[in-house]
Amino acid sequence: MENNDKIKAPCHVAIIMDGNGRWATSRGKKRSAGHKQGAKTLEQIAIYANKINIKYLSVYAFSTDNFKRSAEEVGFLMDLLIYYFNNKLVKLSKEGIRVIISGRKDHLRNDVLESIDNIQKITKDNDRLVLNICLNYGAQEEIVDASLKIANDLESKKITRDSINKDSFYKYLYQDLPPIDILIRTGKEHRLSNFMLYQASYAEIYFSDSYFPDFNEKELDSIIEDFSKVERRYGDVKRIEK
Ligand code: FPP
Repeated sequence: MENNDKIKAPCHVAIIMDGNGRWATSRGKKRSAGHKQGAKTLEQIAIYANKINIKYLSVYAFSTDNFKRSAEEVGFLMDLLIYYFNNKLVKLSKEGIRVIISGRKDHLRNDVLESIDNIQKITKDNDRLVLNICLNYGAQEEIVDASLKIANDLESKKITRDSINKDSFYKYLYQDLPPIDILIRTGKEHRLSNFMLYQASYAEIYFSDSYFPDFNEKELDSIIEDFSKVERRYGDVKRIEK
């Protein structure tokens, strides 16, 4: 997809939803309580993003590295995702929200895979916000997987070398989404943690001190307001200096 439109309103917002665990432990609760509250926050933010006409919202729900966590925490997160894919997010379908999932399928339980199919099928014809949930996801893995798909297409002569460029590369990623305009990371940390590195090449990055369960519409509004004032130059010089 083209990324040289100097737009003011964001089309694609992405969130690294960090701080669920710290939100819970700071309240003397189990980490799982933070994930439960984070899921509620996500539901609220998705409804709001849809209301203000954001077209794409990508969120980091579970990275390939998150499998290193305790079996109890991984199990809880998987059960929570299943509950949202089979129940909560189905209800958002009436708002026109389409849910898509990005990530590798390996290591995921069958009931998780079934719930992924379920929510993607139920919402596939919706034409408002696209909620892209990154699950068992890693950006480096995504770029490697895309490169392997390209190698296969070249080998089978489906494509020629000159058809590969930085725009056509998007079609080989897990989902063909527009570039990210705003990338938000909550939870006080300042890193990208292997999240949508190709799509975030020109994103404006915002680090929020809120733990994700505390992130809200007001904070999103103020980030969007700030974004609307930024001149995105994509390597060009300031317009005033031309
Ligand atoms: C990072 O915080 C968060 C996660 C690994 C899980 C994020 C998942 C949700 C918000 C629920 C998603 C629900 C749906 C329906 C997609 P952390 O646990 O690493 O926090 P910490 O850094 O404070 O420990």
